[in-house]
Amino acid sequence: MKLTLTFLTVQCLVAHVAAQSLSAVLSSQKNLTSLNELLTGQLSQLVDELERHDLNEDPITLLAPSNQAFDTLPNVQTIGQAVSDNNTAELENILRYHVLPGIHSSQTLNSSFAFYPSLLTAQNFTNVTGGQRVGAVLQSGTPPEIVFLSGQGTRSAVSKQDIPFKGGVIQQIDAFAIPPLPFVDTAATYNLADGAQSITSFLGAVYAQSNASLPRLLNTTSDVTIFAPANVAFELVRGALTSLPSRALNDILSYHVVPSNVGPTYSSNFTNATTLRTLQGQNLTMSFSSNSYFLNSARILTTDILIANGVIHIIDNVVSPNSTAALPNPETYTQAPILPTTGVINFNSSAAPFTTFVPGYVPSSTSETASFSTDSASVSGGDMLATASSSSTRSASSGAASPSESVTSSASRVHSKMGFDWVFGILTAGGLFVGAWMAC
Ligand SMILES: *[C@@H]1O[C@H](CO)[C@@H](O)[C@H](O)[C@H]1NC(C)=O
Ligand SMILES: *[C@@H]1O[C@H](CO)[C@@H](O)[C@H](O)[C@H]1NC(C)=O
Ligand SMILES: *[C@@H]1O[C@H](CO)[C@@H](O)[C@H](O)[C@H]1NC(C)=O
Ligand SMILES: *[C@@H]1O[C@H](CO)[C@@H](O)[C@H](O)[C@H]1NC(C)=O
Ligand SMILES: *[C@@H]1O[C@H](CO)[C@@H](O)[C@H](O)[C@H]1NC(C)=O
Ligand SMILES: *[C@@H]1O[C@H](CO)[C@@H](O)[C@H](O)[C@H]1NC(C)=O
Ligand SMILES: *[C@@H]1O[C@H](CO)[C@@H](O)[C@H](O)[C@H]1NC(C)=O
Ligand SMILES: *[C@@H]1O[C@H](CO)[C@@H](O)[C@H](O)[C@H]1NC(C)=O
Ligand SMILES: *[C@@H]1O[C@H](CO)[C@@H](O)[C@H](O)[C@H]1NC(C)=O
Ligand SMILES: *[C@@H]1O[C@H](CO)[C@@H](O)[C@H](O)[C@H]1NC(C)=O
Ligand SMILES: *[C@@H]1O[C@H](CO)[C@@H](O)[C@H](O)[C@H]1NC(C)=O
Ligand SMILES: *[C@@H]1O[C@H](CO)[C@@H](O)[C@H](O)[C@H]1NC(C)=O
Repeated sequence: MKLTLTFLTVQCLVAHVAAQSLSAVLSSQKNLTSLNELLTGQLSQLVDELERHDLNEDPITLLAPSNQAFDTLPNVQTIGQAVSDNNTAELENILRYHVLPGIHSSQTLNSSFAFYPSLLTAQNFTNVTGGQRVGAVLQSGTPPEIVFLSGQGTRSAVSKQDIPFKGGVIQQIDAFAIPPLPFVDTAATYNLADGAQSITSFLGAVYAQSNASLPRLLNTTSDVTIFAPANVAFELVRGALTSLPSRALNDILSYHVVPSNVGPTYSSNFTNATTLRTLQGQNLTMSFSSNSYFLNSARILTTDILIANGVIHIIDNVVSPNSTAALPNPETYTQAPILPTTGVINFNSSAAPFTTFVPGYVPSSTSETASFSTDSASVSGGDMLATASSSSTRSASSGAASPSESVTSSASRVHSKMGFDWVFGILTAGGLFVGAWMAC
C-alpha cells in the first residue's frame, strides 16, 4: 500500500516530463555535467545497467554528485585517489555506492534515519550483506532537505529535488557519498577534531593483545556492529583494564562486538528492551529511556559511523561480561563505570590507554594538533585535509584535536538522540559541506 503510494507520487512527477531516460535527464542538468561526462565517457556499462531499471518494476535512486562536488574531489580519500589514478574499476565502485534500489525522495523519507543498501557490493571495498548502506533522513527546515549519510560521518544534502527519470529518481547532492573505510582506518581517524569522541583507545586495545583473532575478525567479518567506548571511558578504568590478564581483556573487548548475518545493527534497528548476542557469547541489553539508548549501563553517545564491514556506535562506558545486569541511571549524563576507576582530572585524549598500540602509531607532533578547531565547519586548510585523509597509518595522538580536554566538559556536551551529534572529523571539515551545515 505504502509502496504503491510512493510510486504514484513519483509517477505524477514523471507524467509532466514524459518518461525520459537517465542519460537524457542527466544531460539536461546544468549542474551534473561532470557526472554525465564520467558516466558516458568511462562507465557506459554501468549506465546501460542503470537504464534497464524501470519505475514500476525495480526503481532506483541515483545520488548525483553536482559539479561542485566534483570540484572538491581531490581532497577526499578513496575518491580522490581513484580520480587521480583514473582507476575505472574503483570509480565504478564509488558510483555504485551512489545508486540505491527503491525510491528515496522527499515523499518517502521522514525525520527518522533509515539505512538503505546501495549497489556497492565488491568485497574488497565493502562487506555488508545486501550492499553497503547509505543513511537517509528528511531534515525539516526551509526548504526541507534530504540528508544522506556515508562513510566518515560525511553528510551530503539535497534540497528536496526529486528529479524524475524513467527508472526512478535523481537526487543531486553537493558532496560525494564516501564509501566507508575499514575499521582500523575509520577508528584511527574518526573525530580528529574532537578528542572527546575519539575511539583510538578501543582500537589500540584490540591491537594490544598478542591474540590476532579479534583484529582479524574486525577487519574481515561482514556485518559487524561495534560499540566502541570513547577514549575517556577507557581512561576512567585505566588501572583496572591495563592490569587484566589478556584473556579477560579479550573477553571485555569482544563483549563490545555484535556479529550478525542479516546486516549490521544501525540506529534504525535499535529497540527498547532487546538483547544483542555478542562475540564474547553473552548478551548486551539495549534499553531506551530519557531520550537515549543504553547498552547495559552505557549510554550510546554517537550512532552510525559506517565502516566497510559494518557500523560503529560510540558509548560512554566500558561494559563487562561480568556485569551483564548493570543498569543505566538515565538521570545522570555519564554512567558509573563498571570497573574500578582511577581519577581523571585533565584528560588528554591522545594519551588515553592503549593508543600507542594503534596500527601505524607514531608519536604526535604538537604543531599539527594545534591547527584543528572543534568547530569543524570553520576548518579549512586544504593541505591539512589532504595529509590527514590520505594517510591510513596515521598516528593516534596527532589525530586528537584538542591537546587536553577535561572530563566534565566532554561529559556535559549535549547529544541529541538519533545521530545528529556528529561533530565532524577532518574529512568532512574540508569544505565538503557547502552551505548544508546542520547544527543540531
Ligand atoms: C547549480 O549549482 C549552483 C552553484 O554551484 C547553485 O547556485 C544552483 O542552485 C544549482 N542549481 C540547481 C538546479 O541545483
Ligand atoms: C581515463 O581512462 C579512460 C579509459 O579508461 C580514458 O578514456 C580517459 O580519457 C581517461 N581520463 C583521463 C583524465 O585521463
Ligand atoms: C576491488 O576489486 C576490483 C575488481 O573486482 C578491482 O578492480 C579494484 O581495483 C579493487 N579495489 C581495491 C581497493 O582493491
Ligand atoms: C518513518 O517511517 C518509518 C517507516 O517507513 C516508520 O517506521 C517510522 O515510524 C517513521 N518515523 C516517523 C518519525 O514518522
Ligand atoms: C583468541 O581470541 C579468540 C576470539 O576472540 C578466542 O576464541 C581464542 O580463544 C583466543 N585465543 C587465546 C589463545 O587466547
Ligand atoms: C587490519 O587492517 C589494517 C588496515 O586497514 C591493517 O593495518 C591491520 O594490520 C589489519 N590487521 C589484521 C590482523 O589483519
Ligand atoms: C567478507 O565477509 C565474509 C563473511 O564474514 C568473509 O568470509 C570474507 O572473507 C570477507 N571478505 C573480505 C574481503 O574481507
Ligand atoms: C570475570 O570474573 C571472573 C571471576 O571473578 C574473572 O576470573 C574474570 O577475569 C572476570 N572477567 C572480566 C572480563 O573481568
Ligand atoms: C535492521 O533493520 C532492517 C530493516 O528493517 C532489517 O532488514 C535488518 O535485518 C535489521 N538488522 C538486524 C541486525 O536486526
Ligand atoms: C522499555 O522496556 C522496559 C522493559 O520492558 C519498560 O519497562 C519501559 O517502559 C520501556 N520503555 C519505553 C520508553 O518504552
Ligand atoms: C541472549 O538472549 C537470547 C534472546 O535474545 C536468549 O535466547 C539467550 O539465552 C541469551 N543468552 C544468554 C547467555 O543470556
Ligand atoms: C597529549 O598526549 C600526547 C601524546 O602522548 C602528547 O604528545 C601531547 O603533548 C599531550 N598534550 C598535552 C597538552 O599534554
